[in-house]
Amino acid sequence: MTVQADPKPTVTDREDIAKRLLRSSAKASYDPLVEIDWDAPIDRDRYAIAPHRVSLYGTELWDRLSEDQRKELSRHEVASIASIGLWFETILMQMLIRHAYDRDPTTNHVQYAYTEIADECRHSVMFAKMTHKLAGRHYRPDFITHNLGRVFKAISNGPLTFAGALFVEEILDQLQREGMVDETLDPLVQAVSRIHVVEEARHMRYAREELIRDWDRHGAVSKAYSRFVLGLVVYFATTRLISPEVYRSVGLDPKEAAKAARRNTHHIDTKTWAARKVVATFDKAGLLAGPAKYVWRRAGLLGRKGAPAPVAAAAA
Ligand SMILES: [Fe+2]
Ligand SMILES: [Fe+2]
Repeated sequence: MTVQADPKPTVTDREDIAKRLLRSSAKASYDPLVEIDWDAPIDRDRYAIAPHRVSLYGTELWDRLSEDQRKELSRHEVASIASIGLWFETILMQMLIRHAYDRDPTTNHVQYAYTEIADECRHSVMFAKMTHKLAGRHYRPDFITHNLGRVFKAISNGPLTFAGALFVEEILDQLQREGMVDETLDPLVQAVSRIHVVEEARHMRYAREELIRDWDRHGAVSKAYSRFVLGLVVYFATTRLISPEVYRSVGLDPKEAAKAARRNTHHIDTKTWAARKVVATFDKAGLLAGPAKYVWRRAGLLGRKGAPAPVAAAAA
């Protein structure tokens, strides 16, 4: 697949960029407990995510659902995506703490790492509260994914910490950027998306620059290892975005519906679209090469045969 690649990000001085990010954080950070009206009821006449982003859109199973069921499914899918977001934020917080542990806390770079951890703490509370309001439950990743996350957060190296962060942040960001401006969607989901998009823009800048800065310092063996482990992270984070359990909320068999979603070209195209910017960045930086590329394709992130290539620039 050909994607329209972003130019390789210009890497600025580590301390200078961290100083700018700290200044921006001081000006525009949000406390979701104060900013969001958590007592407002969910508007059940609205979708939580645009219908064409729901995993079953366009399938036979979708045709069988009533409009109310489709809206209900959209709420559970947003809850599932937020649950995976929260799962990865918890992993990221530990990775950032490990990053800071080995470095000088008087630097802007480490102080921004602490600031990002604080942001992610607030985000995780926000996602947990939204998930509870939308679905009345948490969609925990399956046993294998949960425990692979446990290993990953303990052993990740520099490139894996920041590439993993950038991948998950970019996927969520694309969906949230689209959702936050769609006035037809549920207001709670829009409010959560707006806060997350503003603060994640800084996280992605920090991760992208640190990744590019650090990557070329690694030798061939370390690079091959990082590509392989990153492929696993990408595969598990993406294929678990929508828990099969969400389908129970509208009376569908989880196995049958998950199979339909896996084969659904609309759903594959959504994943390819959400990943297009980070795919372009990784491709350009040299992280997307070798056998790991097969895993990226299996996860539905490099498009499907015959589909038009997503345009990276359209998302900004
Ligand atoms: Fe976050
Ligand atoms: Fe983040």
